[in-house]
Amino acid sequence: MVLSVLTDISALYELAPYVGSVFQHPKSQFYTLLTDTEIVFACENLGLDRGDILSRFEKTVTALHLEKLLGKSLFALSGGEKQKIACASVCALMPDIFVLDEPTSNLDIGTIRDMQAILMDWKRQGKTIIIAEHRLAWLCGIADRVLYFQAGEIALDIAAERFWALPVDEFHRMGLRTFCEFSPAAKLGQIDSGNLELFGFRYEQKNEIILDIPQLSIPKGAIVAVLGNNGAGKTTFARSLCGLIKKAKGTLCFDGKEYAPEQRMGLCYMVMQDVNHQLFSESVLDEAMLGIKALPESREAMAEQVLSDLDLLDCKDAHPMSLSGGQRQRVAIAGAITSHKEIIVFDEPTSGLDYRHMQEVASSIRKLSDMGKTQFVITHDPDLVAACCNYFVFMEAGKVVCSGYWNETNQKYIADYFSGL
Ligand SMILES: Nc1ncnc2c1ncn2[C@@H]1O[C@H](COP(=O)(O)OP(=O)(O)OP(=O)(O)O)[C@@H](O)[C@H]1O
Ligand SMILES: [Mg+2]
Repeated sequence: MVLSVLTDISALYELAPYVGSVFQHPKSQFYTLLTDTEIVFACENLGLDRGDILSRFEKTVTALHLEKLLGKSLFALSGGEKQKIACASVCALMPDIFVLDEPTSNLDIGTIRDMQAILMDWKRQGKTIIIAEHRLAWLCGIADRVLYFQAGEIALDIAAERFWALPVDEFHRMGLRTFCEFSPAAKLGQIDSGNLELFGFRYEQKNEIILDIPQLSIPKGAIVAVLGNNGAGKTTFARSLCGLIKKAKGTLCFDGKEYAPEQRMGLCYMVMQDVNHQLFSESVLDEAMLGIKALPESREAMAEQVLSDLDLLDCKDAHPMSLSGGQRQRVAIAGAITSHKEIIVFDEPTSGLDYRHMQEVASSIRKLSDMGKTQFVITHDPDLVAACCNYFVFMEAGKVVCSGYWNETNQKYIADYFSGL
């Protein structure tokens, strides 16, 4: 019924009441400055009645557990919190058609479960939902039909039950993720070259403690998964570690030397959660060459090798901003590899990546580990943790609540955390 209405629509603005969308980068769709005003913006824009808007607002806040985010500036939100608000504004709008572009790429497990419940509710109300996704497991039991795209064309159009019944190999051949039990493959090898010691990591913002890690030891050379819910303080921890937050306190001991925050920029490299902030060059090749200190002719060859490892060689002349989200992410990773820093921090490096590219990122991280680098991988992606991390840190409300190797207890702890995905 709805789709037949759409055939009569010629102007884009006429679509607005019927179609609500969540973009891949939530920030690019924000119109206001505060969480509350953003949630109701689309409803106000359509001139809905005040009482109706208020009741939609309250329903949305309850369904997505947004109470703690109300009244906050959109600029003070974590990556996942921003994504929650983008989902909330479309949720409040309640159009007939929902178009969601990787709505869960930065979300924690609890919020994905909230999204599942919301989508089921939309379905019961007869809404049409179109979702572009790499994380597929949460859609099992929700999606009715699956379209698989290849080079701009629909290569497969199949009923969901038949899709879920495909063998695992077939999923991987198509570059898709499957859902398996969480079982980390990477074991920490002979790493007895000492520890990284962190002391007094602390950061407060408007009297609110955002980060509080009195002491933490990390085996040098480890690949550390930094885990925890949206807003737990993972990105804040990473930025403090790299010396990128001026007011954050904390000392890092590495190879018997103490580093204050401002000294750590020469030691640490960070691949940001939103990589758009760190790509500056005119071409992918230039970007990859930025950190290479060598003769011009060898710089190019070295950069090309890294690009080739990351499946980016074909687009070496392209402008980084003309690439897809996943490709841009890999360009930023190329920069980390060529920087030759000792500590590398990846903030959600595989959000928005398919199975094959997730594996490539894991393989680059393992390669960096072979080169002796110590790495922190902030992620909500159990596949990535299983593929490359050999140590973990679990954060809650700015604190480290648990950390260690993959012994049986720790493995079960994290498997329970990721269960159902
Ligand atoms: N400038 C700021 N002012 C006030 N609060 C802030 C500011 N920056 C971050 N916060 C808050 O600090 C908390 C930690 O944010 P952080 O970005 O470190 O979370 P995160 O664990 O990386 O979450 P995600 O998984 O969603 O990326 C969040 O609740 C966030 O709202
Ligand atoms: Mg973050």
